[in-house]
Amino acid sequence: MIKVKDIAYVRFGAPDLDAMERFLTDFGLVVNARVGETLYARGTDPSPYLHVAERGDPSFRGVAFEAASAEDLTAASQLEGASAVEKIDAPGGGQRVRFSDPDGFAVEVVHGREQLAALPVRGAAPLNRGSDRQRMGTLQRIAPGPSCVKRLGHAVVRVSDFRRSEAWYKSRFGFLSSDEVYIGDPDNVVTAFLRCDRGEEYSDHHTFLCVGLGEVGFDHAAFEVEDADQVMVGHDHLQKAGYEHHAGIGRHVLGSQVFDYWRDPWGHVVEHFADGDLLNVHHETGRYDPATALGTQWGKFAP
Ligand SMILES: [Fe+2]
Repeated sequence: MIKVKDIAYVRFGAPDLDAMERFLTDFGLVVNARVGETLYARGTDPSPYLHVAERGDPSFRGVAFEAASAEDLTAASQLEGASAVEKIDAPGGGQRVRFSDPDGFAVEVVHGREQLAALPVRGAAPLNRGSDRQRMGTLQRIAPGPSCVKRLGHAVVRVSDFRRSEAWYKSRFGFLSSDEVYIGDPDNVVTAFLRCDRGEEYSDHHTFLCVGLGEVGFDHAAFEVEDADQVMVGHDHLQKAGYEHHAGIGRHVLGSQVFDYWRDPWGHVVEHFADGDLLNVHHETGRYDPATALGTQWGKFAP
């Protein structure tokens, strides 16, 4: 087993790369390369790309996780079902190991992609909390336009057998369960919010989920923006641009993120989020019913 340190990118098929580029730009990503029939988009963090779109049928084509070291990537290539270590033929280079999960989802573990200089981050000026005023003599002016995506935060797939998929991912990549969700009998667990095991270091409340409900397929991918103001301006911008809203705006219970879900031009759900919980190895796994898991602290999980 290795311990992946983060999610790296998601891969999609799209029949019209120009339409995808327009959507990604309106969503707040920066399309920084088009190589042949493939589009690469980044956020403001140094990762060379977070979203890959390949010309073809609209489809989810897989998820990649970041290995902590070159040694871990070699170790990944020894795991059951792994490919050999391969060169990545994409901007930033690097190496990868490929897998196919129990439902046939393509999974890559990557290492050594060349990092880019970070881009400037747009966000709100300091906030004046009622009991802690931080902004003196400076006006709050949030620039309208696409929200400023920093990074990819998590991806979610629906699987045929949750416990089988959970075991598959945990036994290879070292994920920890932050919270489990059950239906009816508390032992009937249908999903778990999985985070990376970084020991004492803090990691997102969830980096990946396999949900044992509904039709097997892609559920959504979530991109972190700077703050709640960026979630809101991004919402206004996507609405004006005429895209299809899926759910939000609200604040999740499990993970606590302020969230807003949209659909790309072919219906794949992508989320903006800000202000999620960060946990380290000491967090004890919670267990919740669906009302809590799908509930919100404010706002609603509906359009
Ligand atoms: Fe999400």
